[in-house]
Amino acid sequence: MSATVLRARDLTRHYEVSQGFLKPTGVVRALGGVSFELQAGKTLAVVGESGCGKSTLARALTLIETPTSGSLELDGVDVVAGAKADIRSLRSKVQMVFQNPYASLNPRQKIGVQLAEPLLINTDLSAAEREARVKEMMGIVGLRPEHYYRYPHMFSGGQRQRIAIARAMMLRPKIVVADEPTSALDVSIQAQVLNLFMDLQQELGTAYVFISHNLSVVEHVADDVMVMYLGRTVEMGSKAQIYGAPRHPYTRALLSATPSIHPEDRRVKIKIEGELPSPLNPPTGCAFHKRCPFAQARCQQEVPLLREVDGHQVACHFAEEIA
Ligand SMILES: Nc1ncnc2c1ncn2[C@@H]1O[C@H](COP(=O)(O)OP(=O)(O)O)[C@@H](O)[C@H]1O
Ligand SMILES: [Mg+2]
Repeated sequence: MSATVLRARDLTRHYEVSQGFLKPTGVVRALGGVSFELQAGKTLAVVGESGCGKSTLARALTLIETPTSGSLELDGVDVVAGAKADIRSLRSKVQMVFQNPYASLNPRQKIGVQLAEPLLINTDLSAAEREARVKEMMGIVGLRPEHYYRYPHMFSGGQRQRIAIARAMMLRPKIVVADEPTSALDVSIQAQVLNLFMDLQQELGTAYVFISHNLSVVEHVADDVMVMYLGRTVEMGSKAQIYGAPRHPYTRALLSATPSIHPEDRRVKIKIEGELPSPLNPPTGCAFHKRCPFAQARCQQEVPLLREVDGHQVACHFAEEIA
């Protein structure tokens, strides 16, 4: 039995925004209440189109922002109610990898110095020990010893993402949240970086929350998949369930939009039209109803709750009919 390293219950994050002079402030429900668990050494992929709240979730999970409501437990510590000292110690247990590695590295500092920084802050290791640890990690992520003395601009995009991953791994965190970590990279490099994530998980036992707008990117790495729409989970299940027997029209549409991962797959394609509605002013009923080819009158009025269909979670009134 493996340990639960992350448990989120009805997690929300709202932003107050100005709507103009003399108008009341609006509330953007960027994250409308998501619940999930992540086991040690496993990968939960979080997928949905741009604006659905993925980065907001990532910031809450990595303690960059405090949730508005709900509960969040990281490695057994309650992030909202826990003691300050416990929460501080969590910062080394959960790390983030961002989409753009260049923005997350200091252009004026040598790579070796940047990789040693987490060790300098969080451990009592000597300078020589830190250097040895950094060089070891550089080797693990596929960098060469001489890279230690180079600056970020001297690397390719793929190498820079390796550096960012190495830095996230320096303290051997239990959880890494990777927010679109391959989206800024050339297609030819994406697979290499995905393989690196997989190898590191094998070697270090890290659990991942792996975020992408693209279902085909995460098929390789995911154990479980959570599909989000407008700040909420619309479908969640094992990789086999989500790719093999999707029940939510939105999941089906995302899969249809994914070119030929399974050329033999002749499932009827679903096309969604229009844009993601604003979370400032969400539609009534099912948030997806205006774009859903299967929407009925009920979908305009009644919010579909997440419920179990076919052994996994689906939020659609007509999930049974969509097979
Ligand atoms: N600091 C903020 N203030 C106001 N609205 C925000 C803020 N951050 C994100 N949002 C809004 O929350 C929604 C979700 O954003 P985000 O989490 O970045 O989505 P994703 O990463 O899936 O593209 C968007 O509508 C976005 O405009
Ligand atoms: Mg984002």
